[in-house]
Amino acid sequence: MTNIHDRLLIIDFGSQVTQLIARRLRELNVYCEIHPYQNVTDAFLAEFAPKAVILSGGPASVIDEGSPRPPSTVFDLNVPILGICYGQQVMMEVLGGKVESGHGTAEFGRAFVTPEAEKLALLDGWFEDDKEQVWMSHGDHVSKIAPGFEVYGTSPNAPFAITADTSRNFFAVQFHPEVHHTPNGAKLYENFVKMAGFKGDWTMGAYREEAIAKIREQVGDAKVICGLSGGVDSSVAAVLIHEAIGDQLTCVFVNNGLLRKGEADEVITMFRDNYNMPFIYADERELFLGELDGQSDPETKRKIIGKLFIDVFQKHAAEVGGAKFLAQGTLYPDVIESVSFSGGPSVTIKSHHNVGGLPEKMGLKLVEPLRELFKDEVRELGRELGLPTGFIGRHPFPGPGLAIRCPGEITRPKLEILREADAVYIDQIRKHGLYDDIWQAFVAILPVKTVGVMGDGRTYDFACALRAVTSVDGMTADYYPFSHEFLGETATRIINEVPGINRVTYDITSKPPGTIEWE
Ligand code: XMP
Repeated sequence: MTNIHDRLLIIDFGSQVTQLIARRLRELNVYCEIHPYQNVTDAFLAEFAPKAVILSGGPASVIDEGSPRPPSTVFDLNVPILGICYGQQVMMEVLGGKVESGHGTAEFGRAFVTPEAEKLALLDGWFEDDKEQVWMSHGDHVSKIAPGFEVYGTSPNAPFAITADTSRNFFAVQFHPEVHHTPNGAKLYENFVKMAGFKGDWTMGAYREEAIAKIREQVGDAKVICGLSGGVDSSVAAVLIHEAIGDQLTCVFVNNGLLRKGEADEVITMFRDNYNMPFIYADERELFLGELDGQSDPETKRKIIGKLFIDVFQKHAAEVGGAKFLAQGTLYPDVIESVSFSGGPSVTIKSHHNVGGLPEKMGLKLVEPLRELFKDEVRELGRELGLPTGFIGRHPFPGPGLAIRCPGEITRPKLEILREADAVYIDQIRKHGLYDDIWQAFVAILPVKTVGVMGDGRTYDFACALRAVTSVDGMTADYYPFSHEFLGETATRIINEVPGINRVTYDITSKPPGTIEWE
């Protein structure tokens, strides 16, 4: 499918910001994929057939023995190559230049690059004020450029900040043009892909058509089941697959008793009203809440929910009979994380569950039509498919639901209080027009009761915490800077409108060191 478009290959050396390179390129409607350097073999290159290559940054030192290298054949592909930071240094080293370590030449953070020679097409729109702010993050530096290269920009600590061999269309920069702290960086990518001849035809409309064709080809006349969480990803996947194969698809939506106020109705109505597709509503509240009764350890809760979800899904999927495929709303960041340079997270912070383990157990093959998309691209595809706007913009909601917003023991009365408080909080956020500026917002009910005074009486009720964060992908996050007026008004509303809560706090922890959810 993707071969219809010109493809750009990003070879990943493990930089924290490699995904941002892909973002910048997708914004230019250029199809690209990130692959860890170890996977980029000669055979891979031949099959991928990139029209241009970008070498990412990375934490290693080119000087160290055994440090990562791209296959040397990449330089014989006769396509434009852009090296960034470590990618620049590796290019110089491999092509005959020299890289040295530190001693007063390291640069971290903001720097200014000034032009050094005649105009380079890569730098169209740059240096209009004679200097450009860039973001540097390097300990090593290039001390001698490779034969054929010339210098086009320097910074105080990087004499070879921008270099190029224009005869081969090789470009190398010491800084990171993909980050926001290089304000004119997007222009550099635009110039690079223009020079490489990309048409910028990777649009959501095109993606939709191609994804549909690909699903039909993969599935044939077999049946597909889709575990619907009510979140944006699984909903978009379901609607796309339904458009491709119609009633061969059955969705299973499990109510585990841990959904937000009105959520089950919202999801059911959205699907029943808008899409005439086979839909199983599995009301399993008693089962989940019964098994969770008395459990307070976060990982135990997660494991119970994960296991029950699989059991329930399996039971209802059996009603469909003979399904050969399981549809999932896996996104590109999930795919990258599992094959990343660093081999993914080394410690389990939380055992995220969705339907892991299910395909093997049931002998199902996976259909994952969103594997190539970022979250905001999924939202764009959702709009393209005509999903209601309010639905598409919904904040992410975790698989284990309210269980992980109820630290300590889960009880039905606590869940009920939490649902009400959360509804008031979200209503406040919407009324103040802040919903779309926030990545995720919710209330956590705390396992502590505190004393208060309401009217002339004493109260002894639960305390709760409000959480709201900004984030790009959920991997890192910062708390949302609400005004004091907003916080005060919201606290008053929650205490007045939600019996059972008499104290409201605001969580101002970033991630790291905190996580977004409380468990
Ligand atoms: P944390 O709390 O790890 O959350 O900072 C990061 C993002 O992931 C969501 N989350 C989950 N999503 N299953 C999911 O589908 C899970 O088990 C799970 N745990 C956390 C969380 O809501 C946030 O968006």
